[in-house]
Amino acid sequence: MGLLIRGGTVVTASDIQNADVLIEGEKVTSIAAHIAPNGHEVIDAQGCYLFPGGVDPHTHLDMPFGGTVTADDFRTGTVAAAYGGTTTVIDFALHSKGQTLAHSLKTWHAKAEGKAAIDYAFHVMIGDLREDVMQEIPKVVSEEGVTSFKLFLAYKNTLQIDDETLFRTLRLASQVGALVQVHAENGDVIDVLVKDALSKEQVEPKFHALTRPPEAEAEATSRAIRLAEMAQAPLYVVHVTSAQAADAISEARNRGLPIFGETCPQYLVCDYSDYERPNFEGAKYVMSPPLREKWHQPILWNKLANGELQGYGSDQCSFNFIGQKELGRHNFSLIPNGAPTIEDRISILYHYGVNAGHIGLNKFVALTSTNNAKLFGLFPRKGTIAIGSDADIVVWDPEVETTISATTHHMNVDNNIFEGMTVKGKPRQVFLRGKMIIDRDKFTGEQGSGQFLRCQRFSRNVL
Ligand code: URP
Ligand code: ZN
Ligand code: ZN
Repeated sequence: MGLLIRGGTVVTASDIQNADVLIEGEKVTSIAAHIAPNGHEVIDAQGCYLFPGGVDPHTHLDMPFGGTVTADDFRTGTVAAAYGGTTTVIDFALHSKGQTLAHSLKTWHAKAEGKAAIDYAFHVMIGDLREDVMQEIPKVVSEEGVTSFKLFLAYKNTLQIDDETLFRTLRLASQVGALVQVHAENGDVIDVLVKDALSKEQVEPKFHALTRPPEAEAEATSRAIRLAEMAQAPLYVVHVTSAQAADAISEARNRGLPIFGETCPQYLVCDYSDYERPNFEGAKYVMSPPLREKWHQPILWNKLANGELQGYGSDQCSFNFIGQKELGRHNFSLIPNGAPTIEDRISILYHYGVNAGHIGLNKFVALTSTNNAKLFGLFPRKGTIAIGSDADIVVWDPEVETTISATTHHMNVDNNIFEGMTVKGKPRQVFLRGKMIIDRDKFTGEQGSGQFLRCQRFSRNVL
């Protein structure tokens, strides 16, 4: 006996059709205008869309950062993700100087195993590229199922690497079919600007943004692109925030280079003015790169709509206001960077993107799910509703309105940067490999039932 989702509108990155969907075991086995109930369990999806489960390519769960540890781990973070319609996360395994990549992955497997309520994969971040680490890279790709590496061009004296490391990683990764990601900001320049500001006692949260200008992002983005070009490697730029950085990506793509860019919900709906909130509230919005002036937003929307930006991640990195953000009450550079966004990633794109007319339903699915699955080697198992794909399906009610609030969200954190925003459209049910894990406002899944996913090698013709 299977599970039959009847009467919904099935939306993929390319099609929209009224159809019934039959799930047998963990897979979709039939999609057709009418499928006979034949003793199957039936879910009525009239009036709802069926979207593929969201694939969030950018999360930081249970991550030590900024002198503390993120408030959400794989237990709380993946449940919150499920409430929002995400059924797969790709989390960053941190690599510290002196360690092996194998150690990083072992650590991250231990964090996720037995806790994750949805499926998960890993990117591995490279902190130092010693000879032995270089030798590990091909093994990580072929044996560990991890096919993407992340490098930071910012966070001087902690995560930041130099151009030699970036260039060598790009060259090697491309030879073994892996995709390199960069956090693109010029950390050396930012370090000077931060020291200048602090020497003038400019300590409030807004100076976080003022010491990380868009030019620092644009410079690092352009540099990384040129290095990728010389290394003949593909490149994925995470969390693009500014028109200048996004233009650098468009320019490279127009020259035929395999350069990809991601943005995040916060950069589409929050802006620089949030840093000027009174009573240190601006600290909730401290993230890197920082929120920009509002005029960047229509440019980002336009680039999402026309395919110049392809990835859409949450950059979930939650810290409590009390006890964590407060670490920087007298010095903005000590405020832990990041915000809780995993739960609202999809509803923000739906409301401010689809309802507002910036993007259509196919593009919405491409951004929340398909493109991310394709870029990181999970497609077609994940990222679509198709025969043979995992039955990760969101039954989406387009009529329900929700006002986002830290008092009602499911993340383990005392603040929400989208607080007070009313969004229309939310998951009614969420299925992970055929099992209902969200039923209206109830979590019906199981902690620990999320599976580790091995990613395929990057394919140049993917998008
Ligand atoms: O502020 C942010 N984005 N925190 C998470 C780490 C990163 O840079 O992605
Ligand atoms: Zn980053
Ligand atoms: Zn991040």
